[in-house]
Amino acid sequence: MKIGTPLSANATKALLLGSGELGKEIAISLQRYGVEVIAVDRYAHAPAHHVAQRSHVIDMTDAAEVRKIVALEQPHFIIPELEAIATDALAAIEAEGQVTVVPNARAIQLTMNREGIRVLVAETLGLPTSRYAFASTLEELTAAVNAGIGYPCFIKPTMSSSGKGQSMVKSAAELEVAWDYAKSAGRVDTGKVIVEAKIDFDFEITLLTVRAKNAQGEVETHFCPPIGHRQEHGDYRESWQPQAMSEIALARSQDIAKAVTDNIGGLGLFGVELFVQGDVVWFSEVSPRPHDTGMVTMVTQRQNEFELHVRAILGLPVSTQQSAIGASAVILGGIDAKGFEFQGLAQALADAAVSIRLFGKPEAFVHRRMGVALATASSTEQARVKASDAAKQLKIVSNN
Ligand SMILES: Nc1ncnc2c1ncn2[C@@H]1O[C@H](COP(=O)(O)OP(=O)(O)O)[C@@H](O)[C@H]1O
Ligand SMILES: [Mg+2]
Repeated sequence: MKIGTPLSANATKALLLGSGELGKEIAISLQRYGVEVIAVDRYAHAPAHHVAQRSHVIDMTDAAEVRKIVALEQPHFIIPELEAIATDALAAIEAEGQVTVVPNARAIQLTMNREGIRVLVAETLGLPTSRYAFASTLEELTAAVNAGIGYPCFIKPTMSSSGKGQSMVKSAAELEVAWDYAKSAGRVDTGKVIVEAKIDFDFEITLLTVRAKNAQGEVETHFCPPIGHRQEHGDYRESWQPQAMSEIALARSQDIAKAVTDNIGGLGLFGVELFVQGDVVWFSEVSPRPHDTGMVTMVTQRQNEFELHVRAILGLPVSTQQSAIGASAVILGGIDAKGFEFQGLAQALADAAVSIRLFGKPEAFVHRRMGVALATASSTEQARVKASDAAKQLKIVSNN
């Protein structure tokens, strides 16, 4: 891999599609290797915009707008950071052969719609998942639940993330509300919802899986130690590394992650979400990019998930070794506000084992993730307490 001089004719350029908190850390990792970063999002002053050489505000679901930015910037790499992207444009750009879409356009197409990835994993690869069905009408949904999915079950839009439009249904009486919610709150109405039987797991993990080249130029698969996490309303609140689990469950998790990422292909880091009960493991979903629960690796690994993604993309060697036990806890907005300030930062940082990242988002919402508290300790239990306590110290106060 050749890295040129940023802001010159021979610069190595990466275009980030999506400039949230994960994009910001990817941009910082790219900057450390002297890659020129162009950060794109649908609103101005997004987190990664602050740490890029240039930024653009476009509708990333509009194929013409994506093509226009790519023609203008002529990047070597397009690094998608979110799912809501005009994936057909990415496929066409990849086919022209000048730009590497990370990890590849098919991965982005498969994972933007729950139907694509679920059918691949459960039907083509034959890996264990929850029982599921797709439904285009409330009648189809009811029939699918009655035909074997049963209660409780989860109803989700086929295109959505961060728990949007998703609900758990415990009885027939709740189905219609869940159907209406999934149809209205998804990112794009595909006309379909997915219904999944609820898995009664002991815990859920993200297995960060890296496809990177070794010194001989062969692609190898590396696994980070498993990350445990806790979700509320389909959105992550806390994560920790490592999650204690049986050797059999870990081996099964790695086998599933390897099978899925081998099929997807390309170079980069993937967040494979799995449910675990004893020695039994189910695949849930996969992100072909760094994962929000993986922010904990900023304090637990020598090479965090962003560094790993960037190294893999650039064809450089990686190490997934863990260097500390740690946890992360999200800092939510708590209020809706445009002019605001953070209070309590000094108190939160009084413990030397605590780090805080504030994302620099221009507007706070009650449930919007505005920052993350990170902590290391001698056990995950202690690290979780430290991270959560630090997150609680941070308060967003309106200046208006
Ligand atoms: N079939 C299921 N069984 C049990 N829990 C589930 C199931 N589907 C989703 N969940 C819970 O909801 C969370 C979010 O669901 P997920 O499918 O990952 O949506 P998103 O794409 O919005 O992250 C999961 O991490 C898990 O805690
Ligand atoms: Mg998820």
